[in-house]
Amino acid sequence: MTEAAHEQDVAAEQYRREQHVTDQVLASFGGAASARFAEVMGALVRHAHAFVREVRLTEEEWQQGIEFLTRTGHVTTDRRQEFILLSDVLGISMLTVAVNHPPDGDATESTVFGPFFVAGSPRVELGGDIAQGAAGQPCWISGSVRDPDGKPVAGAKIEVWEADDEGLYDVQHDGERTAGRGHLFTAPDCGFRFWAVTPTPYPIPDDGPVGDLLTAAGRGPMRAAHLHFMVTAPGYRTLITHIFVAGGEHLDSDAVFGVKPSLVKDFVEHAAGAEAPDGRVPERDWSSAEFDIVLARDKETSDKEAPE
Ligand SMILES: [Fe+2]
Repeated sequence: MTEAAHEQDVAAEQYRREQHVTDQVLASFGGAASARFAEVMGALVRHAHAFVREVRLTEEEWQQGIEFLTRTGHVTTDRRQEFILLSDVLGISMLTVAVNHPPDGDATESTVFGPFFVAGSPRVELGGDIAQGAAGQPCWISGSVRDPDGKPVAGAKIEVWEADDEGLYDVQHDGERTAGRGHLFTAPDCGFRFWAVTPTPYPIPDDGPVGDLLTAAGRGPMRAAHLHFMVTAPGYRTLITHIFVAGGEHLDSDAVFGVKPSLVKDFVEHAAGAEAPDGRVPERDWSSAEFDIVLARDKETSDKEAPE
C-alpha cells in the first residue's frame, strides 16, 4: 500500500468514527415523546458536533469551555443573570428576536429583553414618575399605542425599566430599593406619558466570565443609552423593545447588537425653568422624547376570535 493510500484509509476511518458518534447521539433522541424536542435536540447535536469537527476542538479547549460555563453558572443569582448576558453578547438573543418577530407592517420593532427586568414593578399613574429616586436628568416620555390600522389601543400595559445615570439598574445597587422601573396603562385615547431619567450609556456587567470573553475578543461592554419597554394588550403580540437616544455613543457598537434605526429617538433638551407638558417646571435641565407604538396583532388570538 502506498503512503498516500494509507493516509486515505486513516482519514476514512477517522471520518467513520466521528460520524458514528454523531449518528449514535442523534438516534438516541429518536424515541422522544415530543417531536419538537427531538427536532430541537437533533439540530443542537448536529450543529454542536459539526462545530467540534470544524475547529478540531482540543481537549484543553473543551475543558476551558466547561470551566467558562461553570463560572457563568456560579456567578448567576436571582439578581444577576450571566447566561442572558452570554446569549446577548453572542447575538443569540437578537437572532431569536429576529426569528420570532418577522416584519409586520408598521409594527414597532422588537429588541433584546436583557437581564434586568423584574416582575411586579410599581404602578405609576399617567404622568407619574418611574424614577422613584433613580439619579439622573428628568426625562418626559410621551406617546401612544395603536394597532396596525391606526386604531387606539386603550388600557395597554406598558412596563418600563432603565438604568440610572451611574449606569446601574436598581437591582445592581445594594439594598432592596425599587427605582427606575414601573408600569402604567394607556388612556382611553391610547396616549401615555410619564417621567423617567434620561438614559445614559452603561457597561453590561463585565466583572464575570462574559466580561472576560469580551476582553479576549477585544470588544467593549458598553450599551447605547436606552429605555426598556414591554407592552401588552389582549389580542396583540407582546412587544419587548427599547428606545435609544439619537446621537448617543455606542449606537454602532452596542455590546448586545440591540440597536435598530427605527428605535432611535430624538431626546430634546430643555433648560432649567422651562415648563414641561404637565405644567411642572423642573429646577434643573430636562429632556423629552416621544414614542408612538404600533402593536402587531396576535395571529393566534385573532384566529381564535374570528367568527366561524
Ligand atoms: Fe438595559
